[in-house]
Amino acid sequence: MAERVVVTGGSGRLGPWVIREFLEHGYEVVNIDTRHPQEPLCPTVIADLAQLGDAVDVLEGADALVHLAAIPAAGLRPNEFTFRNNVLSTYNVLAAASLLGMSKAVITSSESSYGLVFALHPFSPQYVPVDEDHPQLPQDSYGLSKVVNEATADMFHRRSGMQVVSFRLGNVIAPDMYENFPSFIHNPRERERILWSYIDTRDAAVAYRLAVEADGLGSMRLNIAADDTSMDIPSRELMAVSYPDVRDFRAPLEGYETLLDNRRAKQVLGWQPVHRWRDHVNV
Ligand SMILES: NC(=O)c1ccc[n+]([C@@H]2O[C@H](COP(=O)([O-])OP(=O)(O)OC[C@H]3O[C@@H](n4cnc5c(N)ncnc54)[C@H](O)[C@@H]3O)[C@@H](O)[C@H]2O)c1
Repeated sequence: MAERVVVTGGSGRLGPWVIREFLEHGYEVVNIDTRHPQEPLCPTVIADLAQLGDAVDVLEGADALVHLAAIPAAGLRPNEFTFRNNVLSTYNVLAAASLLGMSKAVITSSESSYGLVFALHPFSPQYVPVDEDHPQLPQDSYGLSKVVNEATADMFHRRSGMQVVSFRLGNVIAPDMYENFPSFIHNPRERERILWSYIDTRDAAVAYRLAVEADGLGSMRLNIAADDTSMDIPSRELMAVSYPDVRDFRAPLEGYETLLDNRRAKQVLGWQPVHRWRDHVNV
């Protein structure tokens, strides 16, 4: 079992949940971020991971890397900045991990890598639920940065044998965000570009720990999403409204099932999301 885990980007939305999950399971955790967290859960080292020197320095002595740090969407910063920050920081932490002989890393990709969400020229998925074999067709620098990062993970796995799991997260929802759900759950047009996906921060956190504890995964991509969509409208009805041209349905879709296929993560990690928006919201 890995004992000392470096979590990057631990001062953000998802980070504290991931840090807590590792701490609760007996790991020593260090957070690396460009800013301090609201609530200190573990030591934080301030570093810019887009600088290789910083990355090597802060990863020394760790057994595993959990890389969350990124500009988390298109449009928040200039396109070139987002690409440079996300691609270089991922290259640098994996280069450092590989150089230091680390055997396990998990990096954070996104459903945005499939390209629908920030597409300048909107398009439909080729089939649903969208699984990890679906083409990634981003038209934006954020989605592209995630595609490049997955290729970077492959390269370091080939180079050093390090296990690198790339999590393609659905929209990350912390518990205090469920109060917003009533404002959109009845309108299919809301969230259609993210295939109405979501993942509770607590369920995502468990998946990160399981990926660090798993062996023999090589370089693998896994969708991480809740079992249901974030909507109070059946999944086939959502598809009929927003993507009527899609005919290829690869799951029964008889209720509110996710359209971002999470079956591989469940199979490979023995993971099961347990937090559902319906348990937090009166519909
Ligand atoms: N929020 C979502 O809905 C969503 C969906 C899919 C994937 N993701 C991915 O999940 C991860 C976490 O997202 P989040 O919502 O917690 O984002 P966030 O912006 O809340 O947190 C990211 C953290 O990374 C830090 N960071 C950014 N660049 C850095 C650098 N060069 N060096 C050091 N620290 C740096 C930021 O300061 C921030 O604290 C990201 O990789 C994001 O792309 C998020």
